Amino acid sequence: MPQSFDQTMHEMLAQTRAVLSELKSLGVDELYLENDSTELPVCREEVSQCQTGRCDCRMPSLEEIRAELGECQRCGLARGRTNIVFGSGNPHAELVFVGEGPGREEDEKGLPFVGEAGRLLERILFAMGFQRDQVYICNVVKCRPPQNRNPQADEIAACEPFLKQQLASLKPRVIVALGKFAAQTLLQQETPISRLRGHWSEYEGIPLMPTYHPAYLLRNPAGKRDVWEDMKAVMLHLAEESK
Ligand code: URA
Ligand code: URA
Repeated sequence: MPQSFDQTMHEMLAQTRAVLSELKSLGVDELYLENDSTELPVCREEVSQCQTGRCDCRMPSLEEIRAELGECQRCGLARGRTNIVFGSGNPHAELVFVGEGPGREEDEKGLPFVGEAGRLLERILFAMGFQRDQVYICNVVKCRPPQNRNPQADEIAACEPFLKQQLASLKPRVIVALGKFAAQTLLQQETPISRLRGHWSEYEGIPLMPTYHPAYLLRNPAGKRDVWEDMKAVMLHLAEESK
């Protein structure tokens, strides 16, 4: 016969009481509950405030960040876009790739890195032993700059809070910054990508590896060797940390 609700509750309470008294006997007099309760308000101001300690707000989920972005009109790129390219992949990814901004095909499909540069990125991922849906991929700007021009400072500034929130929500073990704009935006530095690449940095306490952008590699295949060195360092880091 199925248990009644009262019986189930009674057993759950008894089990909880047993666990708590066992903890108490071990000297635990305070429990730390991770702030993922949906009861707490979402952290708005400084998402980094909640990454380490206790606080009375929780990280937004990727869906909540996307919802806040809405039909964004925060910069001029809104006028020329077909679709917002928010990002895609595994919300629990250990590895996140950040590119520059959507191109034509990304704008049409609303997905990052689905054009020629994306196919090269997928081959790089494959060589690393990853499928696309095991990692998370997004861009500094979420709307296509006209004629694929570089994103401007005001456009990057308007979009950056969303990238920050995405990375705070994902909390990956490693971030790969693809190309100059991702690396310079995340590191708040103007150092050329040729000098940044191959060297570990940190973004909000998360190890960050800058490397060349796949679109650059399509024009300069000789750079692939460097990118592969950088990805080997990333793989080594992920393997070492999970030991
Ligand atoms: N280049 C980028 O930086 N991002 C994309 O999504 C596609 C091409
Ligand atoms: N210039 C860029 O913007 N990105 C690269 O990866 C290389 C050169």
